[in-house]
Amino acid sequence: MKTVKLSIIGFGAVGQGVAQAILQKKDNLADMDINLVVVAISDRTGACVEPNGVDLEAAIKRKKEKGSVATTDLTSLDVIRDIDHNIVLDATPTNIEDGEPGLTYMLEAFRHGRHVVTSNKGPLALKYNMLCDEAHKGGVQFRFEATVGGAMPILNLARDALAGNMVMSIEGILNGTCNYILSRMTEESLSYKQVLGEAQELGIAETDPSYDVEGIDAACKLVILANSIFKMNVTYDDVDVTGITKITPESISLAGAEGMVIKLIGEVRDGDDAIIKVVPKLVPKNHPLAVGGTLNVALLRTDMAGPICVEGRGAGSMETASAVLSDIIAICKKEF
Ligand SMILES: NC(=O)c1ccc[n+]([C@@H]2O[C@H](COP(=O)([O-])OP(=O)(O)OC[C@H]3O[C@@H](n4cnc5c(N)ncnc54)[C@H](OP(=O)(O)O)[C@@H]3O)[C@@H](O)[C@H]2O)c1
Repeated sequence: MKTVKLSIIGFGAVGQGVAQAILQKKDNLADMDINLVVVAISDRTGACVEPNGVDLEAAIKRKKEKGSVATTDLTSLDVIRDIDHNIVLDATPTNIEDGEPGLTYMLEAFRHGRHVVTSNKGPLALKYNMLCDEAHKGGVQFRFEATVGGAMPILNLARDALAGNMVMSIEGILNGTCNYILSRMTEESLSYKQVLGEAQELGIAETDPSYDVEGIDAACKLVILANSIFKMNVTYDDVDVTGITKITPESISLAGAEGMVIKLIGEVRDGDDAIIKVVPKLVPKNHPLAVGGTLNVALLRTDMAGPICVEGRGAGSMETASAVLSDIIAICKKEF
């Protein structure tokens, strides 16, 4: 059995979901000949470190009861630099101003020869090529399935299952909060403000929802798709973005009369007619992109396989852990 040592940097919804998944999937991992040992977990307050494996149940309990996972004064950077391990999971908050703290954590991991798996879009939306170069220099893998579409397997689908195909374009719904708001406005003929309030009460929208409803989150995901699948060299500033805040019940009802729904669609394609934009669009009601609720969906047009559509839950602790774990397993299979 191969022993692979992991650190979890950031122990919120995603970090704890991954810890829970590792506990639940111990036997499945063993079937794959993988003994995945979490040697350190950190949050803003410090870290717990155990070279033979952190007690994950106790760590989750401590975090829930005390709000801190720390049992030492070590920082996340101390863990990344000084604790012997193979893979760093960065599950720290997304920041699209400067990518921190994830950007520094990832670069330090590469410099110390550690593979990186992340769910954090910020650093990739700003410094994709630099991060890939540094991973390459460090001779390590950099995987980020969870940054786009949560559980929906789009990056690894394009890279592995569709290997050999040319992906010509991708269109999709990449933000579950916007999809929820537009779906409820459509179903209940409610105003944007009414549904936003409801979504905030349900915890689907943040107190400050601008990152989602202005299309910024979807734009960051589009940048990651553009750079990783189309090898475009773009950042967040290159995306033409319009959010959903100005959509009225009247426009939704007019669309409905024509057999259409309004969806916030991210679209990317390369070449002479290159495009990278997030914009509300009319979609026929029976179209594969017309999914409801908080679902995410993506339609990939490829040269050999034709159109391929994938949908799934774009967020959630265990859903996101699914994508993170698939990346960790891919690294284990290739490198150990
Ligand atoms: N939740 C989802 O469904 C989902 C889906 C896809 C992608 N993502 C992305 O995944 C990442 C994590 O999301 P989340 O929902 O788990 O966020 P979260 O619940 O807010 O957790 C973030 C964690 O990062 C820690 N943290 C904050 N600043 C830090 C620092 N400077 N150094 C070390 N740790 C630090 C926090 O520490 P404290 O606990 O001490 O505050 C917290 O444990 C984000 O980038 C998010 O956009 C989330």
